[in-house]
Amino acid sequence: MKKTYRIGVIPGDGTGPEVVAEGLKVLQAVSQHAGFQYDLHTYDFGGERYLRTGEILPDSAIEELRGMDALYLGAIGHPKVKPGIVDKIVLMLRFSLDQYINLRPCKLLPGVDSPLKHKGPEDIDFVIVRENTEGLYAGAGGVLRKDTPDEVAIQESINTRKGVERCIRFAFEYCRKRNRAKKLTLCAKTNVLMYASDLWERTFYAVAKEYPDITLDYVHVDAACMWLVKNPEQFDVIVTENLFGDILTDLAAIIQGGLGIAAGANINPRGTSMFEPMGGSAPKYTGMNVINPLAAILACKMMLEHLGEPEAGRLIERAVVEVLTRHLKSLEAGRMGYTTSEVGDLVVRYLAKQSA
Ligand code: IPM
Ligand code: MG
Repeated sequence: MKKTYRIGVIPGDGTGPEVVAEGLKVLQAVSQHAGFQYDLHTYDFGGERYLRTGEILPDSAIEELRGMDALYLGAIGHPKVKPGIVDKIVLMLRFSLDQYINLRPCKLLPGVDSPLKHKGPEDIDFVIVRENTEGLYAGAGGVLRKDTPDEVAIQESINTRKGVERCIRFAFEYCRKRNRAKKLTLCAKTNVLMYASDLWERTFYAVAKEYPDITLDYVHVDAACMWLVKNPEQFDVIVTENLFGDILTDLAAIIQGGLGIAAGANINPRGTSMFEPMGGSAPKYTGMNVINPLAAILACKMMLEHLGEPEAGRLIERAVVEVLTRHLKSLEAGRMGYTTSEVGDLVVRYLAKQSA
């Protein structure tokens, strides 16, 4: 019997629904070639729903989402909603579903121009494993004497041994399974953060004893920003805490060609994981059919690999590379030479060609 996956779809705001539609088109096509089935369960969380009902994310929804095999997210963020309200939906999902890994592959695909001069696909192929539920994102802290000249704001970085260890262990396992340079770089700031980075460093070398096949490496986060631009080829897998990872993953996105192509996953290895394009809701392009859907299509590829359909993932990547090398003039909205839906159609066409 064919497998049937339960997939929760959250198209979200702005151009989210447009790129998700193309991802689902590709999902439909690849399911026929790879031989699996799925049910879609769509949820309307985001700015529109908040403006209509005042609701952000009902508790009952979280319970329902927990029952899905995977979640596929477009983008959340609405120009009529103040920052910090609906953006929380993504964070609430990460926290409540305990998606403690943020996985961001950074691969320069053939046909894509990196802003890094002289760097090609052979130089840019690494993965960032970002801790996704702790650090400065935990929301610990407070404010005293607000709106007075004596105001004090405290935002504390929470790092638990358990949280750090499970993230580092995931990174070692991932690095082994990826089986490329087999090098894991810890990125922290041990010269200054004497408590948090020290915990990361001690945990890293303790867990490393179980992985003698992995080469160990360390960079300070500030230096990592330099090396990612100067020598991205020195990286295979990077593991880091939440905020450092947030910053590094945007740098990584731009060197792989930008937000039109960067996809990421929020993973709970024993629970429900969520897959998303990195681009945001890009409200000014809403409804214009000009936004690049490739990041959403690659998020779908990551989802299928996670669900245990590696062949489907390979088919999608090959089709995307055909589209990049043969068709797209640029990855930017409105400059691709094709509409959003035409790009989705092209990916489907090359999928069919490969499996014919
Ligand atoms: C990301 C984003 C989020 C984050 C925002 C939207 C809250 O920047 O996924 O990297 O800060 O984690
Ligand atoms: Mg970010």
